[in-house]
Amino acid sequence: MELFLDSADPQQVKTAWDWGVIQGVTTNPSLLASVGKPYIEVVNELIQIVDGSISLEVIATDFETMLQQARTLAALSRKIVVKIPCTTDGLKVVKILSAQKIKTNVTLVFSLSQAILAAKAGATYASVFVGRLEDMAEHSGDELVSQVRTAYDDSLIPTKLVAASIRNENHFEQSILTGADIVTAPFPIVEKLVRHQLTDAGLQRFLDDWARSGLEFPG
Ligand code: G3P
Repeated sequence: MELFLDSADPQQVKTAWDWGVIQGVTTNPSLLASVGKPYIEVVNELIQIVDGSISLEVIATDFETMLQQARTLAALSRKIVVKIPCTTDGLKVVKILSAQKIKTNVTLVFSLSQAILAAKAGATYASVFVGRLEDMAEHSGDELVSQVRTAYDDSLIPTKLVAASIRNENHFEQSILTGADIVTAPFPIVEKLVRHQLTDAGLQRFLDDWARSGLEFPG
């Protein structure tokens, strides 16, 4: 499985990239809008930092404009994966891009049916929104990830299953256990995942014991 950072902030991306824990980046229009810098400037910075896939979303809903925007985005770098919403026009765009070997990430997937249709249209990735699904009572994001995993495996579907909208450690771990190929998590979550109270306590005890020993570190 792979871990992607769900962020458009070049500083966050650079920090997480340097930790060595992420293999790609996903963005969405809300994340790009929150950076406060010109779009192309941000995208060029991301391309410089990341040696992996970068999902950038179209910002239109009609077929013609989405296709045009998708081509513009794909031409920026071979790293770009074009994010397309799961709509009928969107899937039509995915079919065309897929035939042209342009990678796509079908986003805003909230049901098994949507995940299957995205795959049938030729999506490289399908992004299941775990957290947003769970915002609705009586819906389980983990269960959906598990169902999509089973269906993709049973039909030998090569589309990669992305667990997105990750809000906490439990979403992260359950998405892995239920079969996501990729989990894309925001920076504060990734930062939190590194830590454990017993790691902090253990480290402090090692340092205290060393300080009391009077030993000197060689060199
Ligand atoms: O990038 C898509 C997704 O991860 C958004 O997450 O937290 O806004 O539901 P969230």
